[in-house]
Amino acid sequence: MSERAVVPNNLEAFWMPFTANRQFKKNPRMLVGAQDMHYTTADGRQVLDGTAGLWCCNAGHGRPRIVEAIQKQAAELDYAPAFQMGHPKAFELAARLAAKLPSPLDHVFFTNSGSESVDTALKIALAYQRQIGQGTRTRLIGRERGYHGVGFGGISVGGIVANRRTFGTMLTGVDHIRHTHDPERNAFTRGEPEHGAEFADDLISVINLHDPSTIAAVIVEPVAGSTGVLIPPKGYLKRLREICDKHGILLIFDEVITGFGRLGAPFATDYFDVVPDLITTAKGITSGTVPMGAVFCSADIYNAFMTGPENMIELFHGYTYSAHPIACAAALATLDTYEEEGLLTRASELASYWEDAVHSLKDCPHVIDIRNLGLIGAIELEPIEGQPTKRAFSAFLEAYERNLMIRTTGDIIALSPPLIIEKSQIDELFDTLRGVLNSIE
Ligand SMILES: Cc1ncc(COP(=O)(O)O)c(C=O)c1O
Repeated sequence: MSERAVVPNNLEAFWMPFTANRQFKKNPRMLVGAQDMHYTTADGRQVLDGTAGLWCCNAGHGRPRIVEAIQKQAAELDYAPAFQMGHPKAFELAARLAAKLPSPLDHVFFTNSGSESVDTALKIALAYQRQIGQGTRTRLIGRERGYHGVGFGGISVGGIVANRRTFGTMLTGVDHIRHTHDPERNAFTRGEPEHGAEFADDLISVINLHDPSTIAAVIVEPVAGSTGVLIPPKGYLKRLREICDKHGILLIFDEVITGFGRLGAPFATDYFDVVPDLITTAKGITSGTVPMGAVFCSADIYNAFMTGPENMIELFHGYTYSAHPIACAAALATLDTYEEEGLLTRASELASYWEDAVHSLKDCPHVIDIRNLGLIGAIELEPIEGQPTKRAFSAFLEAYERNLMIRTTGDIIALSPPLIIEKSQIDELFDTLRGVLNSIE
């Protein structure tokens, strides 16, 4: 075992995010290495990565081109100020990303995370409406069960109760439409559910209530991930787009998990053939190697700000680490890897094999619904009475013991492996998971 594989004695100081700290620290799960589809644990085991880390390591782990690019960039230009200064890789990366996006999205604002991308997109939407003389449009509309990170903007438009409950009143002027989960009609659907496009009409009710002249933007995840994988019903996203168009409301797709190949197309906008006004991304942009996020918008939105004296800053927003050189180098090498290996569309080749594999768990104990799209899968378990989340968390612990990393949220197991996964590894993943489901209470 290498020296770094040793578990430190003092686990107290680190306040771990979204973690049961006391439980973890009694029985820590330490990862000390990663290569391709596997993590290495402190006790020397190889764990199959069923989640691409946290939905981010789309190219797999330890990919040489990305590693080298990061190392080289750290030695060449470690940091460059992001305000009133530039460095070539930031412009190169923005141009390469713009070329991958559907028309008319062709401008890129860099951030460092999904949460920052969301707050950035919400701010751009508000400022844009004001720029075009629609300053009364100050409302933001989100969706129940939505996850848009943890900034105040993101939790305000987000709809996961536990993420909102303890943090005060949040942004004012926010409203929500209903989520689209409808197990009574759609349980065990393969791919996009047949029923529920009409959930989009909730937006009409919200518009009627507040008047369209008060609404700046609507934000949704094309596929809701963190809440436990909710696939949009057929026609739902198109309908949202039509309603937004009719009322001058900007549509924001939060593609932090769907971006960069997760569905078998570069972005969900390609997959669903619905083009929003703004897209938020992060995670897969660097395959999780260096923190980075990006917001994509159209020239129309960008140009609306390019007025007034040329010596004036047009948007008073940005981060010290926007377009960080090491993140840009990592992202460029990640794009190279995606392109060389066809990873942004690879999920489409594996999708039906994956779908069969996910749905093969239908008869396992406790399973009450299964959902899938691209290389995403969700297995919903019946909660233990009076102890919500416990059953799925036991599955998570048992899977880890059996050398498989899964993710759970509530009583839902969510799967999103690196896009380099092989069919034999899909088999291994679901064989292990079947054993897990058969063994837990
Ligand atoms: C849809 C969506 N938006 C935003 C975020 C927040 O990203 P981050 O954790 O990088 O801030 C996530 C993270 O899972 C996400 O799934």
